Amino acid sequence: MYHSKISGLGFYVPDNIVTNDDLSKIIDTNDEWIQERTGIRERRHIIRGEDTTTTIGVKAAKIAIERSGIVKDDIDFIVFATLSSDYYFPGPGVLVQRDLGLKTVGALDVRNQCSGFVYALSVADQYIKTGMYKNILVIGSEVHSVGLDMTSRGRGVSVIFGDGAGAAILSREEDLTKGILSTHLHSEGEHAEELIVKAPGMGGRWVSDILSDNDPDDESYLPHMNGQFVFKNAVVRFAEVINEGLLANNLTVSDIDMLIPHQANLRISQFIQQKFSLKDDQVYNNIQRYGNTTAASVPIALTEAWEQGKIKSGDIVILAAFGSGFTWGSVIIRW
Ligand code: UT7
Repeated sequence: MYHSKISGLGFYVPDNIVTNDDLSKIIDTNDEWIQERTGIRERRHIIRGEDTTTTIGVKAAKIAIERSGIVKDDIDFIVFATLSSDYYFPGPGVLVQRDLGLKTVGALDVRNQCSGFVYALSVADQYIKTGMYKNILVIGSEVHSVGLDMTSRGRGVSVIFGDGAGAAILSREEDLTKGILSTHLHSEGEHAEELIVKAPGMGGRWVSDILSDNDPDDESYLPHMNGQFVFKNAVVRFAEVINEGLLANNLTVSDIDMLIPHQANLRISQFIQQKFSLKDDQVYNNIQRYGNTTAASVPIALTEAWEQGKIKSGDIVILAAFGSGFTWGSVIIRW
């Protein structure tokens, strides 16, 4: 029996900055509304044709590999979390194996939206704990910009999401007091349709249906979010799953050194911070600069916090996420 630890972290965001003012030139929105409701000032969008979910994931992965001190041939497995796969199938995991020139290691795709990276870490942690693998590349990467409704009709969703990628190398840790202490995963499919892109789907509308209907009011392939309902569930589930992780490890709120919440909305993070009476430097937020990058948000924030020296050896670090599904989860780490 082993533990797993994060031995390397990296992130990549496209250079192309899209400010709230830029969006308000094409959508009926404004900087004041976006900042007041979400905290977001700007986000990144890829240049179409130059980058994809896989290519930005690979850029983040290269940094994580280099920092971990391993070489690419040491990687035993890939776990890739995204909702914005380059292809309908195959998923991006195999494209990473190809683009990084890895051995023919296994590649698993995780599609748990905003909770994707937390789920992916949990999966990787199990493989390392049992001794099956020593080093696993875990990626959370997302390209939203090409799939959003960039008209006023889609303003409730389009202003929130951004593109980006984060990656971690998860490695064997023999000291059982360190590394990932536990992971906690949940779902509630009753609310699947509250945050959804319905089409194309084999159970509903396929591409041929959309093309043959040629209906200008067809929204089935655009993101739909019942924002207030999602918000209300998020604040409850975030708190629950953080508490669940603390309890499982005989920890209390006073043991938390750093909380990295999924960057869904700055107001959600602030609510959680208040609920746990955490200080500003105990909760890391960067949604102001990147928007909500779903599966990429936790690894990007974790990497930035680590780069800025905000995480030290021995710290209790908590990752927590909530999103479409609904799915939610937490990871408790002693760094
Ligand atoms: O990461 C996955 C999980 N996702 C989340 O956790 C997101 C959770 N939800 C939210 O963050 C918030 O619900 C939003 C930021 C999405 C929306 O904020 P809200 O305070 O819930 O606004 P709302 O949807 O209730 O809309 C309020 C008003 C409406 O106008 P009326 O009907 O009051 O006249 C909207 O039409 O704001 C209007 N509105 C906008 N106005 C300017 C909606 N989007 C925009 C916009 N710019 N972009």
